[in-house]
Amino acid sequence: MELNLRKSSPSSIEADVLVLGVFQDESIEDVLKTIDPELADDWLNEIVHLCKAESFKAKNKESISFFGSGKIAARRLILFGLGKTAECDASRIRKTSANLARQFASKEGYKHVVLQLRLDGRSDLLQAAVEGWLLGSYSFHFYKNPSEEENVATIKTEKITFVDGTINETDFAKACRQGRVIGECTNFARDLIAQPACDMTPSKLAESAQSLAVSKGSVTCEILDVEAILELGMGAYLGVAKGSHEPLKFINLKYNHKNSKKFIVLIGKGITFDSGGLSLKTASGMETMKQDMAGAAAVLGVLKAMSELEVPITVQVIVAACENMPGGGALRPGDILRAMNGKTIEVNNTDAEGRLTLADALTYACRLKPDAIVDIATLTGAVVTALGRAAAGIMGNEQALVSRIMESGERSGEKFWQLPLFDEYKEALKSDVADFKNAGSRGEAATSCAGMFLKEFVNGAPWAHLDIAGVGWLDKEKEELNKGGVAFGVRALSYFLLSEADQRNVSNS
Ligand code: BES
Ligand code: ZN
Ligand code: ZN
Repeated sequence: MELNLRKSSPSSIEADVLVLGVFQDESIEDVLKTIDPELADDWLNEIVHLCKAESFKAKNKESISFFGSGKIAARRLILFGLGKTAECDASRIRKTSANLARQFASKEGYKHVVLQLRLDGRSDLLQAAVEGWLLGSYSFHFYKNPSEEENVATIKTEKITFVDGTINETDFAKACRQGRVIGECTNFARDLIAQPACDMTPSKLAESAQSLAVSKGSVTCEILDVEAILELGMGAYLGVAKGSHEPLKFINLKYNHKNSKKFIVLIGKGITFDSGGLSLKTASGMETMKQDMAGAAAVLGVLKAMSELEVPITVQVIVAACENMPGGGALRPGDILRAMNGKTIEVNNTDAEGRLTLADALTYACRLKPDAIVDIATLTGAVVTALGRAAAGIMGNEQALVSRIMESGERSGEKFWQLPLFDEYKEALKSDVADFKNAGSRGEAATSCAGMFLKEFVNGAPWAHLDIAGVGWLDKEKEELNKGGVAFGVRALSYFLLSEADQRNVSNS
């Protein structure tokens, strides 16, 4: 898709549609004149009249459509409500753009779209618009039969011209590139999550990671098999994997920029299917458990974005991928595992498997001595009880790191809410026979207990833990998000790493 900038009046652009963003608290007549100050009075008056007749108030998401009637070169004009000026931020622009993309994808012949979204020269708004467009255009159709009429691919927009008089060409190109890459990498992660567990096995996930290394010289990939994992003593991870016929794959993917001053490890939970193991889930509880590798998908998406944008940073992605199945070799409740750091864990619930795999991944990560470790995981059902679908839970042992990620979430349209890691939660993990149990008491701060368990394996390194179990999956599309796997975290962590790389540049100059 081609992205262009138009600095002057868009009325002469021959396009399929011109979308004009309108604020609720401004005069429609004045906004119309920004398309072209010479706009014919009769047409302008007619539009203003029709807006009144149809009670178009430019409230957020309200829209009204007109024929270009030869008064502008575009075939159609759409006035699109952006709500109150003061409330229109990057998040609203991202959602507007996604909603437009979704609306246009089902229409034929919307190949060239002109967007005058009132960006006011701001590259963050432009980036959000590009991201939103890509996110809204996403659909997953690997398994659909193309001969079925409803499955026929819709005609995609080929060209977008953004209208903004003040942004400079360099900022325009940079914002488009960042928005495009982050949008595409989110969609890449969505494709990984959407594939069923029979196909998206630990081996397939490892292949997907490897393919990122093949396409980029700055990315290297190493996959460890069961022998190497035994050698490393990752007893917690091995314990989870042994109930499945699918071999485990420990994914180690690294992007290293030559001017990097900062080294961040990203760990993603990569359970390609979570049946619960012998502490078996219910049928409905299991239905969407192919999503239990959404953390892994997200960190792969982030690394892909960083490498494509050539961000001056070092990012290492670690995924202890396996399936949680109740096969003959499966973990039994009551079994005791020895983790890589030597600590012993009594498994009182085999469905609390994510933290077991993450425990060994965290020990491994600490030995790399990074500047920070961030893990992202569909870890607890309890985070849905606490925060619903509105925000992911975040915890950590360094407030500055947690705050920076939350702030990146805010800018990228992904919300986080911090939950505590009080020492009291450690009580719930006490075991009579081992150093800890893997699950605390049911119904009591289960998200924080899981965080507390992970903290035992962090060894003091700056660390943040993101629990995305509540926001990782949608049954129905919502604003910029598609139904199915959301790939939550690709945006927030990409924004976070971009700003980390930037900070170092500023402090070093
Ligand atoms: N993968 C699940 C958590 C989950 C739930 C993810 C819903 C996405 C949507 C995790 O492995 C799990 O089963 N956690 C248990 C932990 C409990 C046994 C302590 C849970 O939350 O019930
Ligand atoms: Zn589980
Ligand atoms: Zn799980």
